[in-house]
Amino acid sequence: MKTKKWIVDNSDSLKTSYPQLLEAAALLKQDEVVAFPTETVYGLGANALSDQAVLRIFEAKGRPSDNPLIVHITKKEQLTGLVDNVSASAEQLMEAFWPGPLTLVLKSKEGVSSYVTAGLDTLAIRMPDHPVALALMEVAGLPLAAPSANLSGKPSPTTAAHVAEDLDGKIAGIVDGGPTGVGLESTVVDCTTEIPIILRPGGVTKEELEKVVGRVEMDPALKSQDHAPKSPGMKYTHYAPIAPVFLINGDEDFFKNIILTAQKEGKKVGVLVTEEKKALLKGAGDVVVTCGSINNLSTVAAQLYDALRAFNNKKVDVIYSEIFPYEGVGAAIMNRLEKAAGNKILTP
Ligand code: TXA
Ligand code: MG
Repeated sequence: MKTKKWIVDNSDSLKTSYPQLLEAAALLKQDEVVAFPTETVYGLGANALSDQAVLRIFEAKGRPSDNPLIVHITKKEQLTGLVDNVSASAEQLMEAFWPGPLTLVLKSKEGVSSYVTAGLDTLAIRMPDHPVALALMEVAGLPLAAPSANLSGKPSPTTAAHVAEDLDGKIAGIVDGGPTGVGLESTVVDCTTEIPIILRPGGVTKEELEKVVGRVEMDPALKSQDHAPKSPGMKYTHYAPIAPVFLINGDEDFFKNIILTAQKEGKKVGVLVTEEKKALLKGAGDVVVTCGSINNLSTVAAQLYDALRAFNNKKVDVIYSEIFPYEGVGAAIMNRLEKAAGNKILTP
């Protein structure tokens, strides 16, 4: 399949009459799969109301069929056809964070495709905060089911080039709206329980959620492997570059020592660090990829997936990464790093 590519400007002056959007929307209406930018990561979109279209997403990504998809909408009225029993706290969260990087898990209505929900009786739903995503859905007149537009297991895409790396030739098209902003996926919150539960940390932090609805819990599976995650996607290895990743939970001397030991064993060593840590390590390592500033974790989130992908072209044997505090957006960064590392953490 030849994958069409369209470039559109990512700005509020974006027009729904753009020929690029009309073409992409026409393909979506024919049940084809089209990648598009959101404020978090690129999504792999298809008509959420068509089983055939949704099946094509699973095929293109190589996604396990028991992992449900997020449905993206442009206005709250679309909820009525899709979900039931919207709780007061869910309403408050939508009011506060939509459009934005927050996905709510709600009771799904009869008739919602079981390919989207993977047979669960709940549906994950969000309103993205990106002019291109919103315009594309408006022109197509469809809610779009969309996982991140990467091959299953790979780091999520934050640029159209990342999408092409994984899916060129496998999907009908890619709408290129430039790099995404947040850089990590949306926060997934289960709103079917009395106290909302974070199933996946993401762009909206626990602290921000609690300011709006009071108490919010974390799915225990996020902290311990003894619990099965309530979000099926959280059980798979994820976000992993080709080389094994280890998280370094120690000071500079410990970090440098680990690098040197591996180099003595003849390994080509990749190092993933903030600007500040790079300076402290005095450039140790064979391939050093910097990823934002420790003083502004949003910059780390925005660059993390690009940094993980960067190692693949450099043929390193091993990657050692800095770790981050679990507060604020740090919780989402550490969740993705722990998955990329398969929980391999080195401590003195
Ligand atoms: O930021 C995002 O959320 C991006 C952009 C494209 O919107 N999408 C995204 O989708 O990250 P995906 O498919 O890569 O991740 C969706 C996560 C998975 O962990 C999945 O298991 C979970 O949401 N999920 C989907 N439906 C669910 C449900 N009904 N109950 C619990 N978890 C669900
Ligand atoms: Mg994903």
